[in-house]
Amino acid sequence: MHSKTGRATKRLAQMIVERIDCDEFEIRAADPYPEAYDPTVERNQREQNDDARPGLAGELPDVSGYNAVLLGSPVWNVRAPMILSTFLEGVDLSGMRILPFVTYAVSGMSEIDQDYRDTLPESNVADGLAVRGEDVDSAAADLEAWLRTNGLM
Ligand SMILES: Cc1cc2nc3c(=O)[nH]c(=O)nc-3n(C[C@H](O)[C@H](O)[C@H](O)COP(=O)(O)O)c2cc1C
Repeated sequence: MHSKTGRATKRLAQMIVERIDCDEFEIRAADPYPEAYDPTVERNQREQNDDARPGLAGELPDVSGYNAVLLGSPVWNVRAPMILSTFLEGVDLSGMRILPFVTYAVSGMSEIDQDYRDTLPESNVADGLAVRGEDVDSAAADLEAWLRTNGLM
């Protein structure tokens, strides 16, 4: 039995917001993903196969003036959801520090931080934080250690 999608990563993001001085932006799809697991898996599989760029809801944020971006997502089929590619192609993160965080079920970081290094050669991508979705509520110590390692706490 799978829980509904879209909860664990948001919770982890909230835990970050509670701990550091930062602004929040939620990457949302113009055509929202279903809350149910199986149709989301099917849609994501299609989008990965097509190298799709799903549309974003709302305006892109103005990221100029920031020096670090904490970039979170669930792990979907051992990668970041394709909408992260839409987002990254729409904002200019060159010269910034990127701190990736993911929630997952089994496959951990899945080299998503390495994928960002490949797609963002002008950014400085840190080693990511991977938290099992079911364990987010007990991940405060790991989160804080990662924030400290990166000089944010
Ligand atoms: C489409 C889809 C694909 C997934 N693929 C993986 C995967 O490859 N590896 C993994 O560990 N978990 C995978 N999961 C599980 C999610 O990464 C995990 O449940 C995550 O915590 C969900 O975050 P959320 O509650 O923010 O949606 C997948 C979930 C979905 C919906």
